[in-house]
Amino acid sequence: METRLRALVVSDLHSNFEPLRSVISRVRRKKFDSVVCLGDFVGYCAEPNQVLDTMRTIRGTKLYVRGNHDRVAAGIEDGAGFNPAAKEAAFWTRTKLSAPNRRFLEKLSVGPVRHNSVMICHGSPYHEDEYIFTEHHAAQILLEYDATFILYGHTHLPVVFSLDQRRNVGGLLIRGEATIRLERGMRYLINPGSVGQPRDRDPQASCAIFDSERMTVQFFRVAYDYTKTQRSILKAGLPPILAERLAYGT
Ligand SMILES: [Fe+2]
Repeated sequence: METRLRALVVSDLHSNFEPLRSVISRVRRKKFDSVVCLGDFVGYCAEPNQVLDTMRTIRGTKLYVRGNHDRVAAGIEDGAGFNPAAKEAAFWTRTKLSAPNRRFLEKLSVGPVRHNSVMICHGSPYHEDEYIFTEHHAAQILLEYDATFILYGHTHLPVVFSLDQRRNVGGLLIRGEATIRLERGMRYLINPGSVGQPRDRDPQASCAIFDSERMTVQFFRVAYDYTKTQRSILKAGLPPILAERLAYGT
């Protein structure tokens, strides 16, 4: 029998603790019993241990997959494809992780992970580093996999792609807050956006609550004090560009 998934869905936290704290406070009274994290717990910002301690102890059943920054920060890879600022932050993170947090990163599941009709992954089910931007690409993936819902991250953009039984594909970039009703018979690719480094020119943290039984996905935007994050990035000696972009959501 299908088990309902009623989950807070977050992605791309990127060691930015302030927005994570704001998100948790915002959804405190909302109904969910699981937490899905689609990877990139760390990288870019300067609070990896606060973010990981929080995600390891947050209430609810945890369904987590790793992201590309998690691999490099855990020492699984050397960050060859990273830009210099990303690489510097990942290497800095390696030196700061507590022993339990390092072990947690090393042991994170490689996506995709399946939970009944729901599949979770960082980039795409093909590969954790693949970006899904276009309707054409989304349709290819929805035709290839039989999951009703694929939750993904990596692009840092809140999006819903849908595929109907006639193979018509639709794509919706979510602006601000919205509750999307999901229809039976359709299949979906859903990205909750990024908590720690939004890239849709809205600096507020982005996340979602997904309910497989009510067939809804509710998107939230949560304001936080990004100047606090900026100060901690600069204090850690990380590249200033990583602090600057948080003000613009880029
Ligand atoms: Fe990311």
